[in-house]
Amino acid sequence: MQKPYVIIHTLTSLDGRIHSIELPQFDSAALLYEQLALHTDQQVFNIQGYLNGRVTTDDNNTFYRKPDVNESADPVPEGDFVADAHAPMYYVSIDPTGRLGWQENFVDYGTRRAHVVSVLTERASNAYKDLLRRLNISYVIAGQDRLDNALVLHKLATLFGMQRVMIGGGGVLNWSYLQDDLVDELSLLIAPVTDASPDAPGLFTAKEPYTQVQPRSFSLIEAKPMNDSTVWLRYKVNKEQSA
Ligand SMILES: NC(=O)c1ccc[n+]([C@@H]2O[C@H](COP(=O)([O-])OP(=O)(O)OC[C@H]3O[C@@H](n4cnc5c(N)ncnc54)[C@H](OP(=O)(O)O)[C@@H]3O)[C@@H](O)[C@H]2O)c1
Repeated sequence: MQKPYVIIHTLTSLDGRIHSIELPQFDSAALLYEQLALHTDQQVFNIQGYLNGRVTTDDNNTFYRKPDVNESADPVPEGDFVADAHAPMYYVSIDPTGRLGWQENFVDYGTRRAHVVSVLTERASNAYKDLLRRLNISYVIAGQDRLDNALVLHKLATLFGMQRVMIGGGGVLNWSYLQDDLVDELSLLIAPVTDASPDAPGLFTAKEPYTQVQPRSFSLIEAKPMNDSTVWLRYKVNKEQSA
C-alpha cells in the first residue's frame, strides 16, 4: 500500500488541551499554527492535504447542520467519487457514517482554498453519497463498519496524488492514526496558556471502539522558542514498544 508522509500538527495549551482559550497569547499561537501549515508564503510542511475528524469539522465548518439529503435519490455508482484529482490543496474530512452537513465543496483556511474529500465507510447511505455528488465533493470509501486508516492514506496517495499530509485533529483522529503506526512526525505548538478546564478535548484521546489506551513514546527532533512565549516541538513517533 502507498502512504503519504504524515505529520500531526496541533496547537495545545500548557496542559495539553486543544480547545480555544480567549487570550492574546493563544491567538498569537493560533496564527503561527496556520502559518506553518497553510500560508502560501510561510508554510514549512509542503502538504497537499490535511485531515480533520468529524467533530472538528462540525465545530469549524459545518456547524452541526443536518445534511440536506434526498432519501429517494437514484442509486449512485459503486465505489469512490473523484470530483477533482488536481486540486492544489485538499481538506480530508473523516466522517465514517456521513453526518456532516456540507453546503459547498471547499474550505478556506490560512490563505489556502482546499477541495473537500469526504472519507466514508460502507455505513454511509446512498442519499448521503448522492448529496456529495450533487455538491461536487469527492468521497472515498475505506472500510465496511470501521475506517481502515491505512487504506484511507493509500487512496489519498493514489487517487489524489498526495505525498505529504497533515492531520489537523482533533484528539480522537490524532490517536487513531498514531496507534496504527501511520504517523511520521508530531509537530506541537505549545501556547503559554491554560484555563484548567477538566473536560476540554486533549491532544490524544482514545475512543472505543476505534482506539484504546496504550503507552507510547516520542523522540525529539527539534525544540524552538517562537513569538510570545510559544514553543514549537517536533518529534518522531517511536514504534510500539513492549514493557
Ligand atoms: N488546537 C488544535 O490544533 C485543534 C485542531 C483540531 C481540532 N481541535 C479541536 O478538537 C475538538 C475535537 O476533537 P475530538 O477529539 O473531540 O474529535 P475529532 O477527532 O475531531 O473527531 C472525532 C470523530 O471523528 C470520527 N473519527 C475519528 N477517527 C476515527 C476513526 N479512526 N474511525 C472512525 N471514526 C473516526 C468519529 O466520528 P463519528 O462521531 O461521526 O463516528 C469521531 O467521533 C474540537 O473542539 C476542535 O476545535 C483543536
